[in-house]
Amino acid sequence: MVLLIGATGFLGPPVLKKLLENNYDVDCLVRADSERSKLLDTARSAGKKIKFNTGTLQSGDSIISAIKEAKSAVYMIDLKYTHLLETFLSTVKRTGLKRVVFISSTTILIPLESMIKKKKIDSESLIKNSGLDYTILRPSMIYGSKNDINFSKMIRFIKRKGFFITFGSGNNLIQPIHIEDVASSIADVLDSKKTYQKTYNIAGKNPLKYNEMLDIVRNKLKKKFKVIKIPIKLGILLISIYSKISKNPSLVPGQIERMVINKSYPYDKARADFNFSPASFEDGIEKLIKELEVQD
Ligand SMILES: NC(=O)c1ccc[n+]([C@@H]2O[C@H](COP(=O)([O-])OP(=O)(O)OC[C@H]3O[C@@H](n4cnc5c(N)ncnc54)[C@H](OP(=O)(O)O)[C@@H]3O)[C@@H](O)[C@H]2O)c1
Repeated sequence: MVLLIGATGFLGPPVLKKLLENNYDVDCLVRADSERSKLLDTARSAGKKIKFNTGTLQSGDSIISAIKEAKSAVYMIDLKYTHLLETFLSTVKRTGLKRVVFISSTTILIPLESMIKKKKIDSESLIKNSGLDYTILRPSMIYGSKNDINFSKMIRFIKRKGFFITFGSGNNLIQPIHIEDVASSIADVLDSKKTYQKTYNIAGKNPLKYNEMLDIVRNKLKKKFKVIKIPIKLGILLISIYSKISKNPSLVPGQIERMVINKSYPYDKARADFNFSPASFEDGIEKLIKELEVQD
C-alpha cells in the first residue's frame, strides 16, 4: 500500500488518479477536518476504493499506525514546514517504512534569498540525512487543473476582462510543468531503485520567455487581449501600497522580484533515470483551456 500525505491539496487528486491507474492500493493520511471530496470523486471515477487514515503531522503518535501499514509513501506537504517534516521523519524511524518520495520545489534554485527557501533547503538536507530510500522531486510552477492559482486564474481573468497585467519587460524565462507530468513522475519513480537517494528537477518541455507564453495563450484562447506592462520599480511600489491597504492581499512586493527572475530548469537527470518527457506549454495550456471551457 502507498500512503499519500498531503493528498487533499492541489497535487493530491491527479497523483491519486495516476497511482490507481497503475494498480497501487492507496491510503491517504488526512486531518480530521480535511476536505476529502475530490479524492473520493477521483477514486470513484477510477472504479477503485481508497482508505483514509486520520492524523496530523503535528503529532507523531496520531500518524504512526498509518505509516506502519505503508510499503511506501509520497510526502506532498510543503517542505517550508520543516517542523512537520521533522515529526514525520522521527515517526518513520519507529516503523519499518523505508521508501518515501518527497515533493520539493525549484524555489530552492532561485537566486533570491528568503525564509521559505532556507526552510526548504533545511528540509531537503534532513531528508538526505534520514537514512530513508528517498527520492526528492523538485517541480517548477505547476499548472493544468481548474484549481491552479496561476494559469487557470489568468485564463479566467483574460476571458472576463479582455486584458492582462504583467511586471517588467516580459523577457524573463519560465518553465511551468503540467500537473499530469508531476503525477506521472511520482508514479514512475515510486518503485524505481535507480532513483533512490537522488534529487531531480522536473519542469515543462522548454523554457519560454514570459512574452512567448502570453503569445501562446493568445493563440490557444483565440482571443485578442491587451497586455499592460508595469515597470518593476513601479510594480513594487504599487503592490506595497496595495498590500498595506488590502485586508487579504493576493500579491506582496517580494513576489514581483521573484516573478521577473529567469526560471529555467534542465531535467537531463530525470530524463536519463525515468524517461521524464514532459508536455510542451502549447499542448498543456490547450488541454487546460478545453477543460475550463467544459467546467466553467
Ligand atoms: N502548487 C505548485 O505550483 C507547486 C510547485 C512546485 C512544488 N510544489 C510542491 O508540491 C507539494 C504539494 O503542493 P500543493 O500545491 O498540492 O499543496 P497544497 O495545495 O498547499 O496542499 C497541502 C497539503 O498539505 C496538508 N497539510 C498541511 N498542513 C498539514 C498538517 N499539519 N498535517 C497534515 N497535513 C497537512 C494539507 O491538508 P489540509 O487539506 O488538511 O489543509 C494539504 O493536503 C508541496 O510540497 C509544494 O511545495 C507545488
